[in-house]
Amino acid sequence: MSGTRLLTGIGELVTADPTAGDGSPLGLLRDAALVVESGRVAWVGPAQAAPAVDEAVDLGGAAVVPGFVDSHNHLVFAGERGAEFAARMSGLPYTAGGIASTVAATRAAADATLAGTVRRLVAEMTRGGTTTFETKSGYGLTVVDEERSLAVARVATPETTFLGAHVVPPEYAGDRDAYVDLVRGPMLDACASHARWVDVFCDRGAFDEDETRAVVAAGVARGLLPRLHGNQLGPGPGVRVAVDVGAASVDHCTYLDDADVAALAGSDTVATLLPGAEFSTRAPYPDARRLVDAGVAVAVATDCNPGSSYTTSMAFCIAVAVREMRLTPAEALLAATVGGARALRRSDVGTLALGMRADLAVIDAPSYVHLAYRPGVPLVRETWREGVRVA
Ligand code: NIG
Ligand code: FE
Repeated sequence: MSGTRLLTGIGELVTADPTAGDGSPLGLLRDAALVVESGRVAWVGPAQAAPAVDEAVDLGGAAVVPGFVDSHNHLVFAGERGAEFAARMSGLPYTAGGIASTVAATRAAADATLAGTVRRLVAEMTRGGTTTFETKSGYGLTVVDEERSLAVARVATPETTFLGAHVVPPEYAGDRDAYVDLVRGPMLDACASHARWVDVFCDRGAFDEDETRAVVAAGVARGLLPRLHGNQLGPGPGVRVAVDVGAASVDHCTYLDDADVAALAGSDTVATLLPGAEFSTRAPYPDARRLVDAGVAVAVATDCNPGSSYTTSMAFCIAVAVREMRLTPAEALLAATVGGARALRRSDVGTLALGMRADLAVIDAPSYVHLAYRPGVPLVRETWREGVRVA
């Protein structure tokens, strides 16, 4: 083959393609190689059977996994809330109200400052093995500040989400209906062209079912696809509404009843789990085992934001999902790759099957299992996107 690159010396290759390798959902091969052509996976197989190519890179026995697909983030913000975290760890509860302090800082920040924060966090994500990510607005909460948040976001990723319905900002505290009207009218008019998705924080202290449905309908009418925050802070209608409107994903899913689980199991809506949020708010973890056993498709994402989960590390989230949410290491890795791709309705990323984007993370370990087995250790040695090393 010409114009191609061979990655060889792969001690363990997770393709996440069940038709490859050992036939398990991980599609695992040992002593493997992978050929990249025009940024796509062109060949996968045993290293000794690899075709001759222009350039070969020997990974020296490392494990290789698909690049992480981090399907839930809030990267456009200013300031930080370390003091709020410390107060929580000394006993204060987490509420949706903390969002207001980030809103004030974000409104006061220049576009260049916001873009700088996004660049810094994206660099961190890339070093950690993330090759596809989503990010939301939601810390502007005026027409101008939501629009500029999304304009900054779309430079970094095509997976941008309008979250004007994050919370009701302080200046509308006495008239929440007027705020919902603003979101579903002028704010969406200004923002829709910058976004692929519409999201609502459907939870206590944020938006109720009717408000959520109104904002989702307005977003869908402008061509956006729905995804929701739901059931993070308590039981509620989030999951039910998400399934009903055909949302690609409902995120958090901390407080679910049997009907929520059954509704998810009978739907195409992914349950996206955000272990960093429970970790950083000292909240109970969702029971991922229950979801997987019921046949629900799950994703794991970081929810990187300055309030409830200030981490960009998918490896950390995998480790916590295994330890605290009762996923196996294999299930957690698949949730962080194929699951994230499904939550973003993407069919070009998340696996290393033939024809997929050659996005991958090189793990400095003999097996992907070490991502959960060695928590907190920076095991991602290299990150490759479309066949090119980016970190
Ligand atoms: O996903 N749940 C709503 N939004 C964020 C938290 C944002 C914040 O506290 O600033 C989340 O956890
Ligand atoms: Fe979130």
